[in-house]
Amino acid sequence: MPSAVLTPHGSRFTKPAPLHTGKVLVIVRNQQEQNADARPTIAAKVPDTSGYDTVLIGSPVWNMRAPMTMSAFVESADLTGKSILPFVTYAVSGLSGTDDDYRAALPNVDVGDGLAIRGEIVADAGLERDEWLKANALAVR
Ligand SMILES: Cc1cc2nc3c(=O)[nH]c(=O)nc-3n(C[C@H](O)[C@H](O)[C@H](O)COP(=O)(O)O)c2cc1C
Repeated sequence: MPSAVLTPHGSRFTKPAPLHTGKVLVIVRNQQEQNADARPTIAAKVPDTSGYDTVLIGSPVWNMRAPMTMSAFVESADLTGKSILPFVTYAVSGLSGTDDDYRAALPNVDVGDGLAIRGEIVADAGLERDEWLKANALAVR
């Protein structure tokens, strides 16, 4: 059965805040959004996952969790009855409980074991990625 890969990077889910550019301001904005338990506006159309049984959801780890836009996404996409496989890039803290955050946000959805790849070595992580896909019965192309 088909699977879909959704990441905030490629499709630019969030509308950039004009006053926040540069890494320090990204850190500040993220902290503010976490403190407010915010659901940032998703600028792009939320992808239609209706034709998929398994959806892979990817993001960086920001301050020990996925960016708040990921919460906005999983709460606005209809993922009922699907299997979710979370994956993250990180600097030091691994999955950081992002998989459990998705389980808490999606109590009626099967959230599988996540994959965490250190951002700096992501270009060399193909084998690890493929093993994770195979372990989850997904075809490697
Ligand atoms: C606002 C912000 C917060 C971050 N918080 C964490 C963190 O808590 N743990 C961690 O391991 N990495 C953290 N990082 C590092 C990113 O996870 C890492 O740079 C990223 O996954 C690499 O992918 P990218 O180049 O696509 O952003 C943070 C980065 C930013 C910008």
